[in-house]
Amino acid sequence: MTFFWSSWITLISFGCWLFILGVLLFVLKYKPDVEEDGTTGHEYDGIREYDKPLPKWWLVIFFGSIVWGVAYWVFFPAMFPKHWEGIATVEVDGETVPWTSKNELFSELESNNKVFTDNFEKSILVKADAAGATATLGTLNELQATMRRSENPPADLQTKIDEKVAELAPYVEKLSENPNALKVGSRLFLQNCSVCHGSNAKGATGYPNLTDNDWLYGGEASNILTTLHNGRIGGMPAWRDQIGEDGVRAASEYVLSLSSNNGSKSNGELDQTLVNQGEAIFKQQCALCHSESGKGMISAGAPNLTDNIWLYGGERETVRNTLRYGRAGVMPQWETKLGNERIMLLAAYIYSLSDKTGKSPEAAPVTAAATQPVATEEATAN
Ligand code: HEC
Ligand code: HEC
Repeated sequence: MTFFWSSWITLISFGCWLFILGVLLFVLKYKPDVEEDGTTGHEYDGIREYDKPLPKWWLVIFFGSIVWGVAYWVFFPAMFPKHWEGIATVEVDGETVPWTSKNELFSELESNNKVFTDNFEKSILVKADAAGATATLGTLNELQATMRRSENPPADLQTKIDEKVAELAPYVEKLSENPNALKVGSRLFLQNCSVCHGSNAKGATGYPNLTDNDWLYGGEASNILTTLHNGRIGGMPAWRDQIGEDGVRAASEYVLSLSSNNGSKSNGELDQTLVNQGEAIFKQQCALCHSESGKGMISAGAPNLTDNIWLYGGERETVRNTLRYGRAGVMPQWETKLGNERIMLLAAYIYSLSDKTGKSPEAAPVTAAATQPVATEEATAN
């Protein structure tokens, strides 16, 4: 609050308090002239006015509220809040901090969350035979709290956190077979994820389908956990400056030729000369991320270009635009917003939805998923 508003409020509240106290003292002292019959001589429609003292109970309440007004100023940051924090406190993150409406909110969120996590451990983890996760969750929470508090976290702290997250994977697989966990997971999905991935998780242009077996970053429980904890940013560079419009057209034609249905039926016949030129460009520029075969690479988040599944579309002009301008899909991070327990439930839900039939050895090499933490500001802007 600015100095002006805080003084304004201080002045008004203290002014009112003084005024009311003054009026009361004045009324108590004031003795009107009384006539012989004990009335003031005033008469309204046959009702005559006496001068009787105020009722005791009324006075007690009145004085009580004046005293309470002062007590309020002592307890809460009501008078010049910048200089007086009040003596009331709340618990946030295990620390006692002065009361503010914000701190009170945090404190309430924390205790609500405690109810959720206790319940999660007792009635979800235990019933899904995954109680072993509790210890890992405890360590993970501590590491994250250290991360939040330290201004210059030690270099290996994030690595330790990532390791603990990966340790949760087997328990996520167990949860994915537990109907109760899936019910909670699906509700969390509707609240947090369906805006982008659709209520059936089948995605939309630019937002991947989570129910198939085609993964940008890998469909193992550990990959999904990493995706949810840290977020992901797609890194498809723009090519027009580097390979020119002709290069873009050739490479696009080669991409279409890789796809199991030439990208889209409406593309018609492909230009074989362009395809051949494009192949050379592809081997030189694109294989690095999309692999020599074009089947993609989860360590780069680069999609498989040989199937019939498109993130941005397989129409000739759409593919050209992808190459011309690049793409950078943003999956927000959820660690700070949802916490480890809810992320486990969500990962279990996604893992249960995904189609695991096509996990063939032929699929893209499963290397450790790239850890690409998304800056919190960027993520919350979404
Ligand atoms: C603001 C939109 C948005 C929201 C909200 C969102 N996502 Fe995403 N998600 C994306 C985008 C975009 C990608 C693809 C990133 C890329 O292109 O590299 C993605 C990727 C993913 C992936 C990786 C898919 C793959 O093929 O590897 C998973 C898993 C995922 N999201 C799950 C979730 C879950 C669970 C939630 C809810 C907690 C969620 N997302 C909320 C936009 C969103
Ligand atoms: C630095 C790694 C990298 C290089 C090099 C690269 N790509 Fe990509 N490409 C990606 C990533 C990552 C995505 C996914 C972008 C996203 O998720 O937003 C992508 C997406 C695409 C898509 C969109 C696929 C779809 O499903 O809509 C096409 C097409 C594509 N790349 C073609 C190419 C071609 C052709 C080249 C070479 C000229 C190339 N890429 C070079 C990383 C790369």
